[in-house]
Parts: sequence; structure tokens; C-alpha cells
Amino acid sequence: MNILLTGGAGYIGSHTFIALREAGFEPVILDNFSNSHPVVLERLEQITGRPATLERGDVLDTAWVQDVLRRHEPAGVVHFAGDKAVGESVANPLKYFHNNISGAVSLLRAMDAVYASVSAPTSADPPTLVFSSSATVYGDPATVPITEDFSLSHTNPYGHSKLVIEEMLTSLRLASPAWRVGVLRYFNPAGAHPSGLIGEDPADIPNNLMPYVTQVAVGMRPHVNVFGNDYATPDGTGVRDFIHVQDLAAGHVAALQALLSKGESFTVNLGTGRGVSVLEVIRAVEHASGRPIPHVFAPRRAGDVAQCYADPSLAKRLLGWEAKRSLDEMCADAWRWQSSNPNGYRG
Ligand code: NAD
Ligand code: UFG
Repeated sequence: MNILLTGGAGYIGSHTFIALREAGFEPVILDNFSNSHPVVLERLEQITGRPATLERGDVLDTAWVQDVLRRHEPAGVVHFAGDKAVGESVANPLKYFHNNISGAVSLLRAMDAVYASVSAPTSADPPTLVFSSSATVYGDPATVPITEDFSLSHTNPYGHSKLVIEEMLTSLRLASPAWRVGVLRYFNPAGAHPSGLIGEDPADIPNNLMPYVTQVAVGMRPHVNVFGNDYATPDGTGVRDFIHVQDLAAGHVAALQALLSKGESFTVNLGTGRGVSVLEVIRAVEHASGRPIPHVFAPRRAGDVAQCYADPSLAKRLLGWEAKRSLDEMCADAWRWQSSNPNGYRG
């Protein structure tokens, strides 16, 4: 059963590729490599023992995406493709509205045309989509842990784009009930495949904590800037729900299996339910790498919230999924990837 992964060469998509193959699906990668590297295909072949199928191109090209869908006839599509740097989105919102929102519209129109859902709502082959959303749609949550019924808002154009896409999917399902849609709100993905062959490969200075900390551990950067130590949290630093990317990948398999077998749409959090502070992450990477990690306290980063962690019980109830891996495993796997590929896929 083919599954199309838009953005499948990226960090989460490449890990999901492996999980899908292990579960008996045949994933097809659609990517324009705007934020990834073709070497990932060789690594996926090394890990899974078979070549990966690639469709190189842009999700904004609706006619081409239609052609891809017709040729591969996927039973489902996972839409990872998009831009994800919060700071860049503030500086260049149109880039985010175009690539993320127009990209989603392009994919949905292509799927709609191919699966003809509007004219045949009882079609035997309903369009089936899993969408990569984010905990960013909760804005600054009033309390933690966060359940899916919390109010939604945005604090930057990236978050705005995710919210708009979620709303578009709701409208689409109202108009065309045949659509089966799983919206996955990821918390903070971290870690890497235990082989050390694939992992997160930021093109520039990492925005996210885990790759920054592992780059300090490997000696690429002098110290970690800890953004804020005066939050109302146990040690004063920000608290997040770091989830192993392998657990996240398993969440996509569970989501597709649920959509394909039960046909019910859903929106769920994918997190561990545990809040971990910035200082705890630094200590865990020190432990995993055996190296001291210097850090300095810096002012709060604009737009950051004090605490953000999931109540993941709905995903367990609906999908039978829960995160299994610990923070130590995340850090050990992130360190293995970083130390064996200091320059990521660029060698
Ligand atoms: P990533 O940048 O590693 O992967 C995205 C992939 O999409 C890249 O391979 C990129 O080349 C591709 N892409 C971008 N625009 C494209 C286009 N127009 N056409 C074809 N391919 C295109 O990012 P990731 O961390 O794997 O994130 C995947 C998804 O999950 C994104 O939608 C992101 O917003 C969402 N998400 C990520 C995080 C996180 O912290 N990593 C958290 C929440 C949500
Ligand atoms: N942090 C530092 N120093 C750094 C980087 C981060 O102290 O160099 C801190 C942040 O201030 C925050 C925590 O580490 O307290 C986590 O920051 P990240 O940038 O790793 O993650 P965020 O929670 O800010 O955002 C991430 C993704 C978003 C996504 C969100 C969902 O970047 O795309 O998770 O919760 F929307």
C-alpha cells in the first residue's frame, strides 16, 4: 500500500519513512530539497535495505502533484512539506503563507481532483490525509498539560499558517465528508534514528534547543544560550515536551492505520505528557556525550512561553499510540547522529 510523504526527505519525514516501511507500507517521497539533502535517500536505503522512491519537485505545482498521485495511487498522504523557522516567519511572513498555506491548498486541490471526493462522497477510495501541525497552535496556553480542546491562537506567522491549514481542513471536511483527515499536533521532536545515519540537519545556526546543544557538545559552538532563567518553572528555564522522533514516526503509522481502518477523522496531540526544562536537556546531553556543555543565561526569546507540554491521552485512546522513549534515549540518539555526522548530510 503506497503512502505519499510530501517533505519526506526532511527530519520527521525520513524517520516516518522507515517506520512506515517497517509496518508494511510503501512510502514514496515527494520533496524539493529546499530544507533537506538528497543523501538522505542513500541513508534510507542503507537502513531499510531497499531503494527509496523519490518524486523530486514542488508541492506548489498542483498539476505535477496530481500526476504523482495518479502514478502512485497512494492509499494516504502525509503532508510534512513546509517551512518551519519561527524567526524567519516573522521576518518574511509571505514566504510562510505561500509555501505552507498555498502548498497545502495545492496538495488538497490535487488530491480532490484525483480522488474526486466532492462529486463522489461515498467513493470507495476516499482521500486520506495526515497533516503535520504543531503545539504552536495553542499559542500561550493558560495551563498545562494541554488538551486538544484548549483555545487556539498564534504568536507568529508560522503558527498562523498551521492554524489556517487546520481551519481549511475543517471546512473541507464539512463540504466533503468523504475526506479522512488526521491532524497531528507535534510537541518538540528531538533525537534521531538509533543507527546514527539520519537525524536533524539544520541548514544554518539551529533555532531549536536539541541540535544547538549537540553542536556545542561536538565543539561546533562555544556555549548554549539559555533564553530566560526567570520563568515560573522549577529551575526558572523554559519547559517543553520533548518527544523522540522515532515515537513521533510511530504516531504517523498509527494515525494512518486508524484513518484507513476506521475512517474517522481526528486531531490529536503527539507528546509524552512530561515537561522537561532547558537545563535538564543540557544535563542529559552532557550525560549522553560525556562532555561538559558550557551555557550562559541570556534574555528571554521573544514569543517564547514558559511551559508547554501535552496531555497525550486522546492519541492513546483513539490511535492506541503513546510515546515510549526516554529523554536519555533521545539525547543518546541525537548525540550519535551529531558526533558521527558533525556537518550533517553535507559530509
Ligand atoms: P524539515 O524542514 O526537515 O522537512 C520539511 C521537508 O519539506 C524538507 O525536506 C523540505 O525540503 C520539504 N519542502 C519544503 N517545502 C516544500 C515544497 N514546497 N515542496 C516540496 N517539498 C518541500 O522539517 P521537519 O522538522 O521534518 O518538519 C516537518 C513538518 O512538521 C513541517 O510541516 C513542520 O512545520 C512540522 N513541525 C515540525 C516541528 C519540529 O520541531 N521539527 C514541530 C511541529 C511541527
Ligand atoms: N532555547 C534555549 N536556547 C536555544 C534554543 C532554545 O534556551 O538556543 C529554549 C527556548 O527558549 C525554549 C526551549 O529551549 O524554552 C525550546 O525551544 P525550541 O526552539 O527548541 O522549541 P520551541 O518550543 O520554541 O518551538 C518548537 C518548534 C516550533 C513548534 C513548537 C511546538 O520550533 O516549530 O516547538 O511546541 F511549533
